Amino acid sequence: MTAWLSVIGIGEDGLEGLSSVARTLLAEAELLIGGERHLGMIPEDGRDRLCWPKPLKTAIPEILQRSGRRVAVLATGDPMCYGVGARLARVIPAEEMTIVPALSAFNLACARMAWSLPDIETVTIHGRPREMIVASFYPGARILALTTGGSTPAAVARMLCEHGYGDSRLTVLERMGSPTERRLDGVARTWPHERAADLNTLAVECIADPGTVARARLPGLPDEVFAHDGQLTKREVRAATLALLAPLPAQCLWDVGAGCGSVGIEWLRSHPNNRAVAIERSAARCGLIARNAATLGAPLLQVVEGQAPDALAGLAPPDAIFIGGGIASEGLVEACWQALPSGGRLVANVVTVEGESAVFHWHARLGGQLGRIAVSRGEAVGPFTGWRPLMPVTQWSVVKP
Ligand SMILES: C[S@@+](CC[C@H](N)C(=O)[O-])C[C@H]1O[C@@H](n2cnc3c(N)ncnc32)[C@H](O)[C@@H]1O
Repeated sequence: MTAWLSVIGIGEDGLEGLSSVARTLLAEAELLIGGERHLGMIPEDGRDRLCWPKPLKTAIPEILQRSGRRVAVLATGDPMCYGVGARLARVIPAEEMTIVPALSAFNLACARMAWSLPDIETVTIHGRPREMIVASFYPGARILALTTGGSTPAAVARMLCEHGYGDSRLTVLERMGSPTERRLDGVARTWPHERAADLNTLAVECIADPGTVARARLPGLPDEVFAHDGQLTKREVRAATLALLAPLPAQCLWDVGAGCGSVGIEWLRSHPNNRAVAIERSAARCGLIARNAATLGAPLLQVVEGQAPDALAGLAPPDAIFIGGGIASEGLVEACWQALPSGGRLVANVVTVEGESAVFHWHARLGGQLGRIAVSRGEAVGPFTGWRPLMPVTQWSVVKP
């Protein structure tokens, strides 16, 4: 089948900015699909039009029904950069589509800021929790963020202050490419613009306050950054645990017996496309997990309050599972092992004799490696320094054949 669907990127300069290929595809289309803003750029000429419904995914079956007719979808900028093209590509084969990009908001913003696109952090908080941007805060970071609307820049300015980046410079780039394009500049601490135009892209240059401790994306954040009630996988053990869990981009972790959520949160921070579910039976700890996830830039962590293995039913399939608690629970390891695909990693940490007994039992049946992590931290003993041992952790890790 030849391409019947055109996905045409269009900027705020409207029809004038389209390439001749895009114009031809648009002229040939029998049906035009787009947002109100986009359809408003095309003069009425009697052709069928479909305005994106909410939620947008309800339009996908309608588009598929028209397979074989000439259909043109209009999208903002580059349709494959956080745009509708990426969503269509999940259900329509590439050979059935012609995708013609215009400049993305990131391209335009880099030109306005004179920033090199591969050297900066690009994030989208358009229609997503704005706390996601926090994972990109570090001294010297240059961040471009697609926003949800006019109140996002002021909210980000407040977050920068809360995280020790009050001197950061912000630039709001409104309606780039349109005749009413405008930019607003300022510093987070004294940000004066409570509202900007709804169509805007935000540029941030992160400047840390004296004493702000930068948070690396590599696992092993300091214990102090997590709110916890003692149920925390300690920094040294957490780093070793995540090394065995081996997060790859877009993979999903189940953090079973999540405590304060530290392992799931560090899994998510290691790549923006990662997914994680924290399963925890204590309601109070679920509250801590949600708070830590928001504070540490991982607001998409799914928190499931409940007892494993029952609480595991119906969750998104995992690529790796961490059992931080409850390994001796009836049916837990069986359920986890069954849920893992071939190549999936299972890591369990225990500190009790009962936990060790379960670990030895499962190691004998499923194989894998056993390890013991004994960490001592140097602490002041009067005027001297002594070694304060943490509880030793027995660790079992296995990769499903
Ligand atoms: C769903 S994203 C689509 C991005 C688009 N695919 C692209 O390549 O630019 C929409 C967000 O992009 C940003 N954006 C898109 N066009 C813009 C423009 N002309 N000026 C400022 N921001 C723009 C805004 O942050 C807006 O909320």
